[in-house]
Amino acid sequence: MALTANPLEDAAAAVSDIVEATPAPKKRGTLLIVDDEDGPRQSLRVIFKDEYDLLMAEDGPTAIELAQNNDIDVAVLDIRMAGMSGIEVLERLKFVKPEIEAIMMTAFETTDTIRQALRLRACDYINKPFDIATMRAAVSQAMQRRVLESEIHTSAEKVQDLLTELQNQRVEEQIAKTRGDIYASIIHDINGPLAVISGFVQVLNQRLGHSSRMELEDLEFIKDRLRIIARQVGNCIEISRRYLGFLRRQSSDTAPGVSVNQLLHDLEHLLRVHPSVQENEFQVLPLAGDVAVKINGTDVIQILLNLTVNAFQCSPQPHRVEISGEVLHEPLNLTKFKDGPNDRLLNIESMHNTAPLVKFSVSDTGPGIAPEVLPKIFHPYFTTKGPKQGTGLGLNIVQRLVKEGDGALHCHTRINEGTTFTVYLPGTNLAK
Ligand SMILES: Nc1ncnc2c1ncn2[C@@H]1O[C@H](COP(=O)(O)OP(=O)(O)OP(=O)(O)O)[C@@H](O)[C@H]1O
Ligand SMILES: [Mg+2]
Repeated sequence: MALTANPLEDAAAAVSDIVEATPAPKKRGTLLIVDDEDGPRQSLRVIFKDEYDLLMAEDGPTAIELAQNNDIDVAVLDIRMAGMSGIEVLERLKFVKPEIEAIMMTAFETTDTIRQALRLRACDYINKPFDIATMRAAVSQAMQRRVLESEIHTSAEKVQDLLTELQNQRVEEQIAKTRGDIYASIIHDINGPLAVISGFVQVLNQRLGHSSRMELEDLEFIKDRLRIIARQVGNCIEISRRYLGFLRRQSSDTAPGVSVNQLLHDLEHLLRVHPSVQENEFQVLPLAGDVAVKINGTDVIQILLNLTVNAFQCSPQPHRVEISGEVLHEPLNLTKFKDGPNDRLLNIESMHNTAPLVKFSVSDTGPGIAPEVLPKIFHPYFTTKGPKQGTGLGLNIVQRLVKEGDGALHCHTRINEGTTFTVYLPGTNLAK
């Protein structure tokens, strides 16, 4: 089925496809007659030949072979036959096709044999010699039951097909939506480095604007700033490459083993010229002994930059933001972590909880997050910032990157005291 832009139209088309694809029901039922005596076999043929498609068997093995090769609805079986008994044939027929309806013909059988036939799910039994009206009624009832059962079965299959089709439809929509989210994320994430680039370009302009000739010192200054700009341009390229890789369902070629202190140093550089710092104070505290993180360095910068920018923007009043790193030499004690009005946890259970772990914290002395807002902050497009001020994608991206890096995330907040976001990521020793 070709998909259109409209999911409802697609679903309707799916229904009509399924209905059209359903084979038309059989016109006549198929009746199998099994009796080793020629007389009763022939009289049954005369009675039913105009009503049903008939198959005749004079012994058990023939009956079973016919059942294997034909779509039989009802079987009339003589219980007493030479060789394989009717009870045995019944058992084997039900094995070949459980939905066959079987009517047993009995002569002088004990109630035990009849009980046995009923236990093997024969639907009726008729005394021999039979009376035509009784036989007709028994076969007709059995046929009706088969038709009804097969209709129910076909309807159930149709509903199942429809459900599968709708499910596929939903997955398609979800993929399209994710794709949209990813494009929005690229724009969101590239905005950070672009803000830094623009800040440095302004600094360079000011420096160049004041001097009529260039001193050696100016040249060094310009070179240094250009290096930072070049690194940010590289970041923009890597961000788009990573997301586009994700779109193509490829894992980005990560370069694990990046020094945490190098990352924190880079971050500090970025923040110095970031427009969202404004009047706020900030401090970046490196690790006492350096280690590496297993995930891509750009991802770490992206995570910390999003958290730090949020921390700067959480209040118009000047406040303090602290970014720090710590190495944990033991796995996390997961029993200590609980969601609550002041705490929100993500990916705690599925993280790779093996030491060494790197713990990054971004704390602010801002207004905190209200308990009714806290459960929503990681939802895509959730923002409390005004229109055109926030996309509400920052924390969703953070969460996604942490999850991809097999890490975990914890937000602890207190009204009027501030908020701390903690990121736990698998660490590794630095390559010498
Ligand atoms: N440090 C914080 N203090 C208080 N509230 C916060 C903090 N960090 C996040 N929030 C809340 O979480 C919401 C969602 O944050 P998120 O980063 O996903 O989007 P945003 O910052 O609103 O938009 P964008 O990231 O596009 O600028 C914010 O609007 C804010 O209400
Ligand atoms: Mg944000």
